Formats: sequence, structure tokens, C-alpha cells
Amino acid sequence: MKGIILAGGTGTRLYPLTLVTSKQLLPVYDKPMIYYPLSTLMLAGIREILIISTPDDLPNFKKLLGSGHQFGMEFSYLEQPSPDGIPQAFLLGADFIGEDDVALILGDNIHYGNGLGAVLRKAREEARSGKATIFAYFVPDPEKFGIVEFDREGRVLSIEEKPKKPTSHYCITGLYFYDHTVVGHARRLKPSKRGELEITDLNNLYLKNGDLHVKVLGRGFTWMDAGSVDTLVDAAEFVRIIEERQGIKISAPEEIAFNQKWIDKETLLEAAKRYGNSPYGDHLRRVAEGGIRYE
Ligand code: DAU
Repeated sequence: MKGIILAGGTGTRLYPLTLVTSKQLLPVYDKPMIYYPLSTLMLAGIREILIISTPDDLPNFKKLLGSGHQFGMEFSYLEQPSPDGIPQAFLLGADFIGEDDVALILGDNIHYGNGLGAVLRKAREEARSGKATIFAYFVPDPEKFGIVEFDREGRVLSIEEKPKKPTSHYCITGLYFYDHTVVGHARRLKPSKRGELEITDLNNLYLKNGDLHVKVLGRGFTWMDAGSVDTLVDAAEFVRIIEERQGIKISAPEEIAFNQKWIDKETLLEAAKRYGNSPYGDHLRRVAEGGIRYE
């Protein structure tokens, strides 16, 4: 399975923070925002990742993440000339995807929780048998998101993008697993009233075909979209509390790569050098020496 991180857009909701830098490169506590969605795809076992961003910002993502070899991975990069909608990732990435299944994650989305890896691996398996998996999370402000409507038996009836009168509090998070036919489906989408290709239209296509699974992420999980001033601060505070309380780091790609056995101890220590004597670099050195073990 291939992975795509969509890290473009104008970031206007964060102005002036994003006047000269990409939203997805802003700090979320102790690391750049994109480390979080990257870690999520890595937990799904995905090693080939395409990073899509604006022509202005793409060079900085390349500077930050490089070839991916330091994580035992392979990164490619593509420009999105203008933000014409989330499913455009599949049109731009068609050659990259080829005949493979693909997971797409939005570059400002943080998914966290015990057992997340297993949930993601299940979604990956489903994609192999032609099923799409998306994730739902209870939110207090459903009018801001894609919202899923369930019937009494918990079956999905519809998904609606930013409904004025939401039918539930379950929002669709920015993480989507599809089989390889997604490119063909994305090609058939028409721009919505706001002039964008809509990810919700794509998901409704899968739903209509009986091929959509909506996995509810319950209370044991945390999901955040760090795309506004307040949620950016919330996300940083959340990460700080978890990391300080437990003395760990979350969403450290080098550590995940090491635990997945994609890189060895020497490569991890080499990667840690880049971070100097920062707490992040110190953490990686402790991981390499076997000082931190947790599931
Ligand atoms: O975060 C979850 C929500 O993400 C879902 O519940 C919604 O169904 C989905 O439409 C999306 O809503 P947003 O309001 O967050 O979409 P937005 O247009 O802000 O785009 C989400 C991210 O994707 C944002 O960080 C910028 C990036 N993006 C977006 C578009 C439309 C791109 O890189 N290129 C694009 O063309």
C-alpha cells in the first residue's frame, strides 16, 4: 500500500502565522506538524509516501524530510498548483499509486491512541479486498466537518460535508484508506458549488457501491485537526502533557521506523545527530540504547 500526505492549502485561517511558511511545518509542541500524519501512515506499515504541497512550500518539505531513507522509507514529492480539493491528491498521484491501494492523510491531522496501529492495519487489509475505510470521531461542533449519519443499527446512511443541520456528532477524520480503483472514482467527481472536488463525494460513491466501512474511533483515541489558531495550541498542549507525564515522545518517525525494524541502531543514532542536543535528539539516543520500551 502507498501513502499520500496532503500538505497544501493556503492556511489563511492561521494568518499571519502562515504568511511565509506552510501550516504543516508549524510546530506542534516539539516537532513539525507533518511528523504526526507521517507517523500515522508509518504505524499502518506504509513505507512509500508521496508528499503533496504548494509550489512555494514543497522545497521546505524536501529539506525537512529528504529521501525518506533515514526512516527506511521512500518519499516522493509533487506540487499542487492550487487547492482544488482533497481528492485531487489521487489525480496528481495517479502514477505514484499505480495499481496499489492507497491511504491519504491530511497534513494537519493528529490521530493518537492505544491500539491505533492495529486499527490501521485492519483498514489496510480491507483495502486489499476492495473496501474503503474512513474514521469517525465524536465532536462537539459537527457543522465544521464532514459528518456521518447512522441508522439505529449503526449502519451508515450518508456523509454530508459541513452540514448546516448536522444529523450526528460523528465527524469524518482526515484519514482515508482506499483500494486502487480510487483513481478512477476521483476522475469521475465534479467540482462542488464551492468549486472544489469533495472528499465527501468520493466517500459517498464508495458508500453507494456498498464498499465503505466507517470505523468509529471511541474514547480511547484522540483526534485533532490542528488547522486553526486554537486547535494548534490545543494540539501542542495535548502532546506536551502526554510527553511530560510519561517521559516519552509521541509521533517520532525515527523511533517508529526503529520499532518497525525498518532501520537499525546505527541509522537511528545517525538520524539523532541531526537534532543535536535537543530533547528530541536525546530521546532518539535513549531509544537506540534500549532505554525506552513501551507498547
Ligand atoms: O479534518 C477533517 C475534515 O477535513 C473532514 O471532516 C472534512 O470532511 C474534510 O473536507 C476536511 O475539511 P476541512 O475544512 O479541514 O478541509 P480543508 O479544505 O481545510 O482542507 C483540509 C486540509 O487539506 C488543509 O490542511 C489543507 C489541505 N488541502 C486542502 C485542499 C482543499 C490541500 O492541501 N489541498 C487542497 O486542495
